Amino acid sequence: MKEFAVEIDNLVKEYSGVEVLKNISMKIPKGKITTILGFSGAGKSTLLKHILGISKPSEGLIKVMGTDLGSLHSKELRDFRRNFGMVFQYAALFDSLSTFENVAFPLREFLSLGNNELHDRVENLLTAVGLEQDSFNLYPHELSGGMRKRVGLARALALRPKIMLYDEPTTGLDPITTKTVNDLIFDTANDQSEHELTSIIISHDVKASLAISDYIAFLESGEVIEYLPVEEFKSSNNSMIKKFIELS
Ligand SMILES: Nc1ncnc2c1ncn2[C@@H]1O[C@H](COP(=O)(O)OP(=O)(O)O)[C@@H](O)[C@H]1O
Ligand SMILES: [Mg+2]
Repeated sequence: MKEFAVEIDNLVKEYSGVEVLKNISMKIPKGKITTILGFSGAGKSTLLKHILGISKPSEGLIKVMGTDLGSLHSKELRDFRRNFGMVFQYAALFDSLSTFENVAFPLREFLSLGNNELHDRVENLLTAVGLEQDSFNLYPHELSGGMRKRVGLARALALRPKIMLYDEPTTGLDPITTKTVNDLIFDTANDQSEHELTSIIISHDVKASLAISDYIAFLESGEVIEYLPVEEFKSSNNSMIKKFIELS
């Protein structure tokens, strides 16, 4: 199925007999921004871990770029994960490495680039996320929250992933930094659209999600109760979703 980045088919996940994900089926299109919204505890992060192949389904099937994750052995799965760029709630930078070295890290780990090429790649990545030369040698503790997010994003993009995954990228940030990060996610998706970069965002920030997403899924108690293009989602008649939009 070439047009889908991720296909989830009858996914069930249970922990000690409790179903945390209940029979989820959804297809996430390539080259678009899809946000999975829901209250805390709905199962959003668990769903993301299944897309990454970190968690194994109790039942059902997950295909990423047409590959059934269940068919991959652990080494193949590790390699396969290079298709993903992951941005966490906290930037999760290496504290002992400079901005430059944080972004160089995955390149050194996985590619054998010459020094010049490595430098060019890192500088291009850092410039693309709006960082300037004078911050390249700073360490994470010397950066603002927004700058750390930019470094985290540059590092996630380093290996030219096909799918960017964001788990609560703006939770805990002040409103201005939140706006910056949302703009950055949106701009990144558009800058890379010729490579068909797919963005999947986990969020409970309704306003930003409505502003930047192409599609929105609403997850509640482990079930996808709505999954629609953003404009249709806004006028959903589902009472839970209306409440969620009102509360925000
Ligand atoms: N490893 C685990 N073992 C047992 N229960 C878990 C585990 N991971 C998540 N859960 C449970 O699954 C539910 C959904 O969690 P999570 O996916 O983190 O929700 P969200 O990201 O939407 O806040 C929660 O009730 C949580 O306690
Ligand atoms: Mg979560």
